[in-house]
Amino acid sequence: MEFSTVNDKINLYRKKVEKIKLGGGEKKIEKQHAAGKLTARERLDSLFDPESFQELFMFSEHRSNIMGMENKELPADGVITGCGEINGRTVYTFSQDFTVAGGSSGEMHEKKICEVMDMSLKCGVPFIGINDGGGARIQEGVDALSGYGQIFFRNTLLSGVVPQISIIAGPCAGGAAYSPALTDFIIMVKNNAKMFITGPEVIKAVTGEVITDNELGGAMTHATVSGLAHLVAENDHDALNLAKRLLSYLPSNNLEEPPVYLTDEASLGKDESLNRILPDDTKIAYDMRDIIKKIIDKGSFLEIQEFYAPNIIIGFARIKGRSIGIVANQPICSAGVLDINASDKAARFIRFCNCFNIPLVTFVDVPGFMPGVEQEYNGIIRHGAKMLFAYSATIVPKITVIVRKAYGGAYLAMCSKDMGADRVIAWPTAEIAVMGAEGAANIIFRKEIKAATDKKQEYINRVAEYKEKFANPYIAAGRNFIDEIIEPANTRKHIIRALNSIITKREMRPPKKHGNMPL
Ligand code: HXC
Repeated sequence: MEFSTVNDKINLYRKKVEKIKLGGGEKKIEKQHAAGKLTARERLDSLFDPESFQELFMFSEHRSNIMGMENKELPADGVITGCGEINGRTVYTFSQDFTVAGGSSGEMHEKKICEVMDMSLKCGVPFIGINDGGGARIQEGVDALSGYGQIFFRNTLLSGVVPQISIIAGPCAGGAAYSPALTDFIIMVKNNAKMFITGPEVIKAVTGEVITDNELGGAMTHATVSGLAHLVAENDHDALNLAKRLLSYLPSNNLEEPPVYLTDEASLGKDESLNRILPDDTKIAYDMRDIIKKIIDKGSFLEIQEFYAPNIIIGFARIKGRSIGIVANQPICSAGVLDINASDKAARFIRFCNCFNIPLVTFVDVPGFMPGVEQEYNGIIRHGAKMLFAYSATIVPKITVIVRKAYGGAYLAMCSKDMGADRVIAWPTAEIAVMGAEGAANIIFRKEIKAATDKKQEYINRVAEYKEKFANPYIAAGRNFIDEIIEPANTRKHIIRALNSIITKREMRPPKKHGNMPL
């Protein structure tokens, strides 16, 4: 028997690496490209800074020996795992390889994911998962299920310690969809991403409903109907860029502060157009995004869940280079009312910002909580309470800007002084009251209106009287519920100064495992 030379061994190693890197082979790669998808490795190349990716567990092999698996070679067991740098910051990752057994996840595939999740936790660096697979590998049965359980367990351990981002670039079906659901952000790629617990075939068999996979679990469905998707991407490159952009606002872990990116125009800035932005008639709507964009650093707004519950706006921005989380009512959608979905959307975002030391700036123009039988039956009390809980439990710096209406419970829920706002700033146009003038006049002047000969005129007079007395910021300011009343044009300056002066605040709360948030 001849000995292998060192050269032979190196060549053998090279061949093995080459084969593994080819995944499921040329034909499957062609099919992947034809579907408008990058391969798992191409995605990582696009995500990480050049030459920074370190692949770990490349030689991992499945050990299943039933149902034909004994003869199957599954390169890298269908998932690429490792770490790399994004703008110089380390991130751990996995990228499922659909060309290998449809990216399905068996025991070793899942072990690889768990290994890199453990490293992300130990090192305090973000974790990004790129999903493109058929869920638990059916042939590996309970081992595959157990592996998923271990991933879910780690998603929960990582939660609140390091940011977790999921990119859905292909199918993400069955129980497997719960792993992304446990992460902080889900970015779905239009046309190719599909997320559902049971697909169209099973639904047809069980309930008789007929639906396409895209209608059931495509990116726009989850962005608009279920609220599962936080960002929608046009294609794989777009999704990877969105993940990078998202990371730019976030610290690597809960013990760090978010990175600061100063730009040329990071001045205090006065914007006279803000003095003219509100319509004189308070019943007329305007786009709150126009206000936000005039106050933050130019081009720094990344809106999250743009298409879900559009009556509330959430997103990240920078102000004088510093990351902030923005929560704002949106008057052009249902007058900016707080309903079930808006409350869920905002509460989760508020809690994310609290986990990762991102100060919150809240812009208020809210007529109240949404009235209606459907809202009451579906639990507006339970869901609305999430907003109160989230703001009250949040200890990051909190600044509230009351732009216009701030009525009733919704005034409190939008981070009033009583919910722990560190600085409440009001525009002279702010109206802080128990309820809107029209509703209030009907209740407190009911007798007078009924008794009047000209009921309509009496109503108009009473509404005007109420507005005169209550629709302003001065009564609230008189009770110290407002720290400052400012000219709208100076809002940027006031937020920057407020942030500078409260950024160091420390708030102590009684020790406990965790509060019992209404879910
Ligand atoms: C093993 C799988 C697989 C799976 C796909 N494949 N899903 N192998 N286990 N879960 C294999 C196929 O056999 C095929 O192998 C290759 O991947 C590509 O699949 P195709 O069906 O040819 O591709 P396509 O038509 O694009 O459809 C992709 C798909 C479909 C939508 C993902 O394959 C599908 O519906 N798969 C099953 C999805 C599912 O129900 N998963 C839930 C599993 S249970 P060859 O050898 O032909 O290339 C689960 C529970 C987890 O996930 C619980 C955690 C709590």
